[in-house]
Amino acid sequence: MNSVYEFTSDWFSRRIPLWQEWLRPLVGKPHLQFLEIGSHEGRSALWLLDNVLTHPTGTISCIDPWYNAEAERRFDRNVAASGRSNQVRKFKSKSQQILPRFPERSLDLVYIDGSHEGADVLLDGLLALLLVKRGGLLIFDDYHWKPPDGTIHHPPQPAIDAILDLNDWRLTEVHRGWQIAVRVDR
Ligand SMILES: C[S@@+](CC[C@H](N)C(=O)[O-])C[C@H]1O[C@@H](n2cnc3c(N)ncnc32)[C@H](O)[C@@H]1O
Repeated sequence: MNSVYEFTSDWFSRRIPLWQEWLRPLVGKPHLQFLEIGSHEGRSALWLLDNVLTHPTGTISCIDPWYNAEAERRFDRNVAASGRSNQVRKFKSKSQQILPRFPERSLDLVYIDGSHEGADVLLDGLLALLLVKRGGLLIFDDYHWKPPDGTIHHPPQPAIDAILDLNDWRLTEVHRGWQIAVRVDR
């Protein structure tokens, strides 16, 4: 990863070998449009920018309410340090308010790593499915994540399972592990 970036957390690096495999056919293609729900300091978005969206016409839309102001400042500095901020569209908001603004079937990749509350994951997943192009990829993080005991939160897994079970979009499972990756074939 570009050494000019500053991060205080890393939920992403261990996923890189699988992402390289899934995204290899897209590397350097023109006009790619990616969207990430939950960008934090920008680690996963900048990896995509530096390793897949290498053609200058590729873009990534990053949605995050940035409740943590320091994380947002780091995101901004990291995007500036990439030297390719013209390829990053930043949306400071909850995903559910922004996703309906995108045209249907316009995105090559959606990465869902925002709110981990089950209902939010369900909504993000359903809205995202409308936006992914035929042949595009949808990736969910934290399939096996469990909320700490004693909270009222619901885990992502049943929400992701419901989407996979419905399968109205002719989803092909690419990977099932800590992350779920599916190809949308409808
Ligand atoms: C685990 S971090 C994302 C990490 C990032 N994808 C990476 O790998 O570097 C989760 C982020 O989701 C954001 N988030 C929480 N609720 C959200 C929502 N409803 N919509 C979009 N983002 C949300 C949080 O503010 C936080 O920055």
